[in-house]
Amino acid sequence: MKRLFIIFLFVLLLGATIGLWSYSYFESHEEATIETNRISESSSIPSEAGMFERSHFAMEYAIMPIDEDYQRDLNSYYDNRAFYGAPPTIPHQIEEGGIGANACLKCHENGGFVDKFQAYTPVSPHPEKSNCVQCHVQVKSTSFFVPSTWVKNHPPATGNQALEGSPPIVPHSLQLRENCLSCHAGPSAVKEIRTTHPDRINCRQCHVINEKKTVDIGTFKREIK
Ligand code: HEC
Ligand code: HEC
Ligand code: HEC
Ligand code: HEC
Repeated sequence: MKRLFIIFLFVLLLGATIGLWSYSYFESHEEATIETNRISESSSIPSEAGMFERSHFAMEYAIMPIDEDYQRDLNSYYDNRAFYGAPPTIPHQIEEGGIGANACLKCHENGGFVDKFQAYTPVSPHPEKSNCVQCHVQVKSTSFFVPSTWVKNHPPATGNQALEGSPPIVPHSLQLRENCLSCHAGPSAVKEIRTTHPDRINCRQCHVINEKKTVDIGTFKREIK
């Protein structure tokens, strides 16, 4: 009887050991899960949230080769705007009756090459503004109705760095421009302002905004009281 009990105990312990071992063995072979949405989960400063909107494309942009034949430049970028900061005109045919996000975002949400226009689609920095033709229109005539002396205002200068090699300041306001990667990265980015480092993601960590107008005050003199 006693011997049977010892054998029973032995078999029970052996069974438990095998059970536990195989459980932990298979557990350790389960695929690791990667948290992909950490950026959106962590709380961000509301005014800077837009900066991270396209950051899931950042690594792709960083390794994408530059297609020199179809790059935009700053001159043509400004030419397509009535004045600095104005919504650009639509330089291509649009579908009859297609005026809103459905008609436009199929191309302008993520960009890409369009054969019939022989160009890369600029990515919209504001896909949430769905009534596109409220602001973007096609050019219907090239002459003025009435002659005028209208001249465009100057865009701000680029290359404003404290020292050679330090990050240039952001020369523009961030209204409608929170989503940095839509203009500064990818194949449709204007060549002069295409960033070499889309993968750094947190742009405003290094690039500070210059929204203040500086006024020349001549030679500074301390007031003597
Ligand atoms: C078939 C894809 C496609 C569709 C649909 C489309 N676009 Fe475009 N869009 C392009 C491409 C490509 C360019 C670049 C053209 C060029 O550089 O000559 C462009 C350029 C533009 C530009 C000029 C951007 C700039 O910075 O100069 C605006 C504005 C624009 N599109 C608005 C619209 C609107 C509004 C709609 C919807 C009514 C629309 N597009 C539908 C592909 C498309
Ligand atoms: C409230 C007005 C408004 C609406 C609505 C609007 N946009 Fe814009 N859009 C602008 C302005 C202003 C700019 C110029 C931004 C700048 O240069 O800072 C612009 C710029 C753009 C550009 C140029 C980006 C670049 O890199 O050259 C594209 C493309 C564009 N918009 C597409 C769209 C599409 C597509 C829609 C609809 C889903 C849309 N926009 C709705 C005002 C608007
Ligand atoms: C609508 C497109 C657009 C968006 C969005 C945008 N930029 Fe720009 N950026 C430009 C243009 C165009 C210039 C050239 C100067 C000008 O015309 O304002 C420029 C210039 C710059 C420069 C100066 C580059 C140099 O060589 O001196 C920096 C830095 C910069 N932007 C950073 C940013 C950051 C950071 C963000 C996001 C918070 C951002 N930009 C969003 C279009 C854009
Ligand atoms: C860790 C700091 C840092 C971060 C983060 C950063 N930059 Fe820069 N950036 C720099 C420095 C430094 C330069 C100057 C490089 C030079 O002069 O050789 C620069 C230059 C630029 C330029 C001028 C063109 C070029 O590439 O030389 C643009 C445009 C720009 N950055 C945009 C961006 C954007 C958009 C982001 C966010 C995706 C960003 N930067 C994030 C440090 C940074």
